[in-house]
Amino acid sequence: MTTAAVVRPATSEAIAAAAVLIRAGRLVAFPTETVYGLGADAGNEQAVAAIFAAKGRPRFNPLIVHVPDLAAAAALAVLDARARRLAEAFWPGPLTLVLPRRAGARLSLLVSAGLDTVALRAPGDPVAQALLAAAAVPIAAPSANRSGTISPTRAEHVAAGSIGDVAMILDGGPCRIGIESTVLDLSREPAAILRPGGVTAAAIAAVIGPLANAGDGAIRSPGMLTRHYAPLRPLRLDAREARPGEALLAFGPDWPPQTALNLSPGGDLREAAANLFAMLRALDRPEFTAIAVMPIPEDGLGAAINDRLRRAAARDDWSDERGPAIPCVLPGIDDEEQ
Ligand code: TXA
Ligand code: MG
Repeated sequence: MTTAAVVRPATSEAIAAAAVLIRAGRLVAFPTETVYGLGADAGNEQAVAAIFAAKGRPRFNPLIVHVPDLAAAAALAVLDARARRLAEAFWPGPLTLVLPRRAGARLSLLVSAGLDTVALRAPGDPVAQALLAAAAVPIAAPSANRSGTISPTRAEHVAAGSIGDVAMILDGGPCRIGIESTVLDLSREPAAILRPGGVTAAAIAAVIGPLANAGDGAIRSPGMLTRHYAPLRPLRLDAREARPGEALLAFGPDWPPQTALNLSPGGDLREAAANLFAMLRALDRPEFTAIAVMPIPEDGLGAAINDRLRRAAARDDWSDERGPAIPCVLPGIDDEEQ
């Protein structure tokens, strides 16, 4: 059942109250620098189960566990030299590391969806860090949206998103980065990017050397089903202009007259990433037949932006809320879907 959650500005009192709720096994939505997360105590099996129920998320799709720092990560997972170097370079920040779970760690099994790995991230947002400090437990948190819909980058997106059983929404304003973290699989050698995000592949390779080729069919993240992050309206990519009835989402200085919104008039990919989800939401309205999006260069954050746009445009593939999912994602079982 969905109930209206209390939205509170992220004052120190509200953060303290949110921490009490987390420790009591409740769900709290909170800001990170990437997107808003739907958080629960990562060591509490029932609380983690409640996240899956609230999002309508399939149980084969594991969650990211948020920790304050490298020392807290080392209590939950086995960190090799690559993991330590990356954490030193990019934490706190938008990089999630998939690592072997440490035996005996106080971590729900469901958080890993039955895998022997766990995805860890130290978020950079000060509200997220304050919540982790006050709760003093690792916090499991997927994006705070219904499974398969656009991730929230503002507290009001969370409030409008009809997720169930949220005890509180901490409002820390718009997310600075606006696109989810990069998910990097370090349980294999060479490391592989499972989801492009806030930290680029080039920046990671500069720290630990070459990564596995993204075209390698063995690389998959349980959550990376083709269709994801989708608005209700169809998306048409690489558009140069709007067709009748379409809303045009532009990028860069050369935008056509029928432009509805521009991700970044100056052509700045950081600004475009920060605007992406909010603008897709704003244009996902019944008066438009579709959202046409101008081409975005593939370099830097553009890779993550294009990844999200391609998934949002893939209308005919099954989303992670439907479909013959479970056998496809068990380790060692081959399949065509991602
Ligand atoms: O920026 C972010 O990462 C946000 C904020 C809230 O931190 N969180 C987020 O969580 O995007 P979520 O659950 O929407 O996406 C997590 C991704 C999924 O694609 C999931 O399949 C993958 O990480 N993942 C989690 N644990 C994994 C594991 N053990 N092995 C492989 N992939 C994993
Ligand atoms: Mg998500």
